[in-house]
Amino acid sequence: MAPRRPPGGDRRPFVSGNWKMHHDHIEALHLVRDLGLRLKPEDTVSVEVSVHPPFTDLRTVQTLVEGESIPVALGAQHCSDHDRGAFTGEVSPQMLARLGVRYVLVGHSERRHLFGMTDEQVAATLRAVLRHGMVPVCCVGETQDERDAGRTEPVLAAQLKTAIDGLDAEQVAGLVLAYEPVWAIGTGRAATAVDAEDAAVYLRGLVGEAAGAEAASAVRIQYGGSVNGENAAELVAEPDVDGLLVGGASLDAARFLDVIRGVAGCYRS
Ligand code: PGA
Repeated sequence: MAPRRPPGGDRRPFVSGNWKMHHDHIEALHLVRDLGLRLKPEDTVSVEVSVHPPFTDLRTVQTLVEGESIPVALGAQHCSDHDRGAFTGEVSPQMLARLGVRYVLVGHSERRHLFGMTDEQVAATLRAVLRHGMVPVCCVGETQDERDAGRTEPVLAAQLKTAIDGLDAEQVAGLVLAYEPVWAIGTGRAATAVDAEDAAVYLRGLVGEAAGAEAASAVRIQYGGSVNGENAAELVAEPDVDGLLVGGASLDAARFLDVIRGVAGCYRS
């Protein structure tokens, strides 16, 4: 039987599928249609779901979810911190907003580590997303070396503080944070529920210091890194883990649904 989440809090649980560089627009069409056919009203009554396909799929997925009223929010994986201009290869947040994108991942560890995205660029991108009325999903997380050196908290603090510095309490309250330890991403080695909860509590505390208690209790914090249908319920049973950011297990409708159902089961009264 699924663990039961302690009552309290009105943060809506949130499960996001980060497809990374997988699935062209035809495959996207099949996957989202399959997901739409499988999703039952009780799956999404308490749980919010988003998918974050590659840029080239967004228009296709938008048309499908709108046309067939599939209860899935449209997400992107990244965007420029500029609205327009001579930035070859970049995608503007304004363009994403026009497509009906609601959530944008900001500072995913692959952007930070493979493409050199700095904390300052994360902060600028987060503001660009807010400027266009979308919700940033701000990703933070330590590497294995940083964890081994006992530096998890200072690393999370530096990443989060730079990202939210100067935002007002209402803006901070509306963010989604994703705790994604780099060592858990794509490795099959998820953090334990206790480690995920410890990090979420720590991040919530930092939000409280920066933006006040109301923002801290409103901000939603996801865990990400090797999430699947088997570990989803246990992770979100923790009181401060409000949802999951799912990579590999979101690439198949049945596997993604297992994660969504694991979360939904925890929130059923
Ligand atoms: P994973 O990826 O679920 O495949 O580990 C998670 C992520 O990178 O968001």
